[in-house]
Amino acid sequence: MSLLVTGGLVASGLDEPPAPRDVLLDGERIAAVEPPGRIPADAGEPVDATGLVVAPGFVDVHSHADNAPLLGADDTTKILQGVTTEVVGNCGFSLAPVVPEYRSDLAALCGRLFPDLDWRWSSFHELLGTLDAAGYVTNYVPLVGHGTLRLAVAGMADRPTTPDERARMGELLREATDAGAFGVSSGLIYPPAVWSDTEELVALARHLPEGRLYATHMRDEGAGLLASIDEAVTVGRAAGRRVQVSHLKAAGEPNWGGVPAALDRLDAARAAGVPVAQDAYPYTASSTMLTTRLPAWAQDGGDAAVLDRLADPVTLRRLRGECGDEWDRVLIASTADHEFEGSTVEETAGLLGVDPFDAFVEILRSERLRVSAVLFTMHEDDLVAALANAHTMVGSDGLPPGVGGRPHPRLFGTFPRVLGRYVRQRAVLDLGTAVHRMTGLPAAAFGLTDRGLVAPGRVADLVAFDAAEVTDVGDYRDPVHPPRGIAWVLQAGAPVVRDGRWLGVRRGRRLLPR
Ligand code: ZN
Ligand code: CU
Repeated sequence: MSLLVTGGLVASGLDEPPAPRDVLLDGERIAAVEPPGRIPADAGEPVDATGLVVAPGFVDVHSHADNAPLLGADDTTKILQGVTTEVVGNCGFSLAPVVPEYRSDLAALCGRLFPDLDWRWSSFHELLGTLDAAGYVTNYVPLVGHGTLRLAVAGMADRPTTPDERARMGELLREATDAGAFGVSSGLIYPPAVWSDTEELVALARHLPEGRLYATHMRDEGAGLLASIDEAVTVGRAAGRRVQVSHLKAAGEPNWGGVPAALDRLDAARAAGVPVAQDAYPYTASSTMLTTRLPAWAQDGGDAAVLDRLADPVTLRRLRGECGDEWDRVLIASTADHEFEGSTVEETAGLLGVDPFDAFVEILRSERLRVSAVLFTMHEDDLVAALANAHTMVGSDGLPPGVGGRPHPRLFGTFPRVLGRYVRQRAVLDLGTAVHRMTGLPAAAFGLTDRGLVAPGRVADLVAFDAAEVTDVGDYRDPVHPPRGIAWVLQAGAPVVRDGRWLGVRRGRRLLPR
């Protein structure tokens, strides 16, 4: 079947202004892109894109929807934004490999963010087989997590890894990349990765095959931002591999204004020949597991050990001064029992009649650490600086679907918000440039060689949107809303979204590294 998309302004995915073009599809692929009228009208079944911008399907370079295929209900949070490809396995967390000895530790750690999973796989290859059988809504680009690898060889222990353990992590990494992982991610604020040093990361990244990358949630996104960028660049340089700095930000009010210097540091690394890029999400709040407010020492040993500490008065006295303050800036998003959701820790303290630290401890204890939170930590000037840099891609950092509650609105609105707030309203980016950063640029960086451009020969993953209307809708207190202004989405030439509605068939694919 051929489709002929006419009347639209095509944003090609290259860094250029949109232009009037007709697009002819031949089955799954784009056959021709021509000025209006050059392709005979009877060449294909007509698709009217009058008044719309036609772009490559967006690439979400930073997602945590590793579990989406396993959900009974289709996860439509990304496809309704026009996202057709998601990079998962970020921040050091992947769902494989799993070893019997530490299966329950991995399940508990992932349980702080993911809904329950049955963990019936061991190797990365087995995981991918399970996912392939379930089917994908969006194209799936998996990374293997350094945290998951470390857990598989050393458990949840607060200690350096041994040379033998590092060798074993390297073998497991290689198994994952052989199976189809596009690279390895790290999340250096999370246990057990928080106990690793730079040498461990270098040793691991040296096992990456050529063309695969190292993505990192850096060790310190606040006062230590520049040193953290240096660490990421060191890993990339030593391993000779591409680096992706995840969700670039300057976190914490004392550090606001820090992103321009961070971008200078990244530009300098690129000038020195290290292939490094970064991504950002278009919000000034982050979101992660609430346990990240605990210092590293308090997270040693896994869930049972952490919960014991939270029940011990002596330990709590020590913890009280080490978990930060500003509890009015910590909004509970999703919890295991759906208690506390939608209130800040400070508001919860008021309701419980205790002080905020005690409320924080109570929330963690009663929800058995299975709590995600939204953290109001950033300044919009830093975000604008990040978005304006030519090497910044867009990643939602959307947390795993299927947990309910009130997830960060980025899960539903990231890509429409870039186009609405930062292109149309604030003119931080031109439309063609914004589309490039969400399509062609990430496709090239991650090696998605047949996606990311509206060009002959590429797979016809396309989104059409109304540039005057497109916008995110939800906010932090009321996030669960699809965006507006996404007219339709095609995946490999087949319609999957029409008039903002999901058509109900999983047409995504797992993509393969080149
Ligand atoms: Zn992260
Ligand atoms: Cu993340």
